[in-house]
Amino acid sequence: MGIVVSMTNAIPQVTLSNGVQMPVLGFGVFQVPVEQTEQVVTDALAAGYRSLDTAASYGNEEAVGRAIAASGIVRDELFVTTKLWVLESGGEDEAKRAFERSLRRLGLDYLDLYLIHQPFGDYYSSWRAMQDLHRDGRIRAIGVANFYPDRLVDLIDHNEIAPAVNQVETHPFFQRAAEQDFMCERGVQIESWGPFAEGRNNLFSNPVLSEIGAAHGKSVAQVVLRWLVQRGVVVIPKSVRPERMRENSDIFDFQLTDAQMARIAGLDTGTSLFFDHRDPEAVSRLGKRRVD
Ligand SMILES: NC(=O)c1ccc[n+]([C@@H]2O[C@H](COP(=O)([O-])OP(=O)(O)OC[C@H]3O[C@@H](n4cnc5c(N)ncnc54)[C@H](OP(=O)(O)O)[C@@H]3O)[C@@H](O)[C@H]2O)c1
Repeated sequence: MGIVVSMTNAIPQVTLSNGVQMPVLGFGVFQVPVEQTEQVVTDALAAGYRSLDTAASYGNEEAVGRAIAASGIVRDELFVTTKLWVLESGGEDEAKRAFERSLRRLGLDYLDLYLIHQPFGDYYSSWRAMQDLHRDGRIRAIGVANFYPDRLVDLIDHNEIAPAVNQVETHPFFQRAAEQDFMCERGVQIESWGPFAEGRNNLFSNPVLSEIGAAHGKSVAQVVLRWLVQRGVVVIPKSVRPERMRENSDIFDFQLTDAQMARIAGLDTGTSLFFDHRDPEAVSRLGKRRVD
């Protein structure tokens, strides 16, 4: 688990705790406008991405599904992730209905990875529903997003199946190394969202990252993605531009030195650049948002 073990189509894979293989590099579609999504995903597939990350709450699952259908790519070459939004009530049945709606929008008959999007609301019911769907073969791997270690360990200790993945904000300014160690101990693969911190903190002109990039003839974006992958973190960068999609996937022909890894480690601020999922205001605001 958590270690790059094989190569498929030049994108290495990690093996999740249940044996499922997942590309270390995928493509995220958060904030891609719905009318652009089909073309953007078509471009990403043409650039060689085979792992796609969407969510019910992004409102673009149907467009992702159209791009998949039009691509002609064999289903088992793709790794499709979507996420279940916060459910207020309705228990396991409501979670199963939300899953079926996502699957229908995507035009698929199974998912590779289904994540609980936020550790809010009735997510223990959601998890039990996801365990059932996994056992029934409808989802190859189940996981969570935005779970801090306290929520993660509680979920693991009180359920039969542990999350295969925890997708959390992870980038040079919020590195989560200790959390990653903890996840690793519990068999949970860390996946980064916001690998570029969406450009916050002037990430793309950061002097340390720029200098390291210059030493390898690589861009800041490539250094960041390489650094994450070298740490064993799965990445799903987003871009609407084909040239950046290609740039972001061209990270498997160079290696950062230990000294360069250590310099990047020095950029950590230890805090979120977005919001803390333990902040009551954020919990209430996100938890009250309804999707579908
Ligand atoms: N689970 C969660 O709660 C959660 C939260 C946030 C995100 N996510 C997932 O993680 C994915 C990635 O995170 P993100 O989209 O928030 O942010 P991100 O990947 O850190 O950053 C995307 C931004 O970087 C720009 N960019 C991309 N490649 C670039 C390059 N090579 N050079 C310069 N700029 C570049 C993009 O602009 P252009 O598009 O104009 O190129 C966009 O503005 C999402 O799409 C989503 O699938 C999950």
